[in-house]
Parts: sequence; C-alpha cells; structure tokens
Amino acid sequence: MDDLGFNKIAGAVLGTLLFIMSLGIISNGLFAPVKPAKPGYELASAEPAASASEAAAPATPDEPLPILLAKADVTKGEASAKACTACHSFEKGGAAKVGPALYGVVGRDKGAAAGFSYSEAMKAKGGKWDFDALNAFITNPKGYVVGTKMGYAGEKDGAKRANILAYLRTLSDAPVELPK
Ligand code: HEC
Repeated sequence: MDDLGFNKIAGAVLGTLLFIMSLGIISNGLFAPVKPAKPGYELASAEPAASASEAAAPATPDEPLPILLAKADVTKGEASAKACTACHSFEKGGAAKVGPALYGVVGRDKGAAAGFSYSEAMKAKGGKWDFDALNAFITNPKGYVVGTKMGYAGEKDGAKRANILAYLRTLSDAPVELPK
C-alpha cells in the first residue's frame, strides 16, 4: 500500500470516529433531561399571572403536594398560621375578622363563609377549596385570585405551606382525606 492509500484510509477512519463522537455530543444535547421550572402538575385554574410567580420561585422546586402533605407537621403549621390570625379566626363558630372565618375551610366552596363580604374576584372564582386550590392561593393569593382583597403576600416555601394546609385540615368536625 502506498502512503497516499494509507492516508486515505486513516482519514476515513478518523472521520468516522469524529462523526460518531459528534453524534454522541449532539444527542446528549438533544435528549438531556429538562427539569420543569415548576414542580408537579399545572393547575387548570392557574392565572396568567403565574409567570410572575415562576420567576420568584425558589431554585429547588417543591416536591409534589401529596408528598409534602404526607410528611407535613401540624404543630409547625399551627405556628406558621399565626400569621393568618391577624385577619382570620380558626376556632369553630369563630367570627369573620378582616377575612372570613376559616374553621372548616378545607373542602368548603370558595367565598362561602357566612357573614363575610367577599371580593367580586373571590365570588367569581368558583369551585371548592381542595388542597391544590389552597396551596395555589397561599403561594400567591393575588396570582391565584386576581383581584382578591386578601392582603397577604404568600408563603413561598412549599414545606411550610404544606404544614399550614395540614393544620387547616384539622379545623373540622370531619377532616377531609389527604390526597394520595
Ligand atoms: C391581611 C389580612 C389577611 C391575612 C394575613 C391572611 N388573610 Fe386570608 N383572607 C383575607 C381576606 C380579606 C380574604 C377574603 C378575600 C376576598 O374576598 O377576595 C381572605 C380569604 C382567605 C381564604 C378564602 C376563604 C373562603 O372562605 O373562601 C383562605 C383559604 C385564606 N384567606 C387563607 C389564609 C391563610 C392560610 C393565611 C395565612 C397563611 C391568610 N389567609 C392570611 C385576609 C387575610
């Protein structure tokens, strides 16, 4: 074999190797796992304003709500919920304050507490306060119910929120089941 022939073959082999390597690099790029910016499932009712809360979302996404609720701490939730008592009563038969009474709120229709005058936005929201809805509302009240008069900035820490939800759940004669 003359030198030129050898060079051609070596060139072909090197070229093939390079091609295979670049395929690997390209496919890694194409198929690299993409972590969702928002954890868990999209709430069908999420408002457009959600993009603003996405920007403010913590770097590590929260675990899915059922998992957070399964390991939630009611006592810690009660402590965190002190922040709500400026405006809400929690005891059975409690009166409306700045906000509606929250005894039995989990599973209740939105905007349905007696003796409280809700915002038009809350009255129009519709549906029940299930855990997903409460979680979304407490994350970002004004994002979830655009136009709400609840003057609370929101709790951005998913674990703390789950603790609060677990505590709210106990404020009932018959606490609803935790989501699976
Ligand atoms: C500064 C006062 C204020 C604080 C603090 C506050 N809320 Fe509210 N909350 C309101 C008002 C006012 C409404 C009624 C909103 C409307 O009609 O738009 C409301 C409504 C709600 C509702 C809807 C109830 C229903 O009957 O539909 C829930 C649930 C709720 N708040 C939970 C909480 C929780 C949990 C906290 C604490 C983490 C909290 N709120 C802190 C004022 C407050």
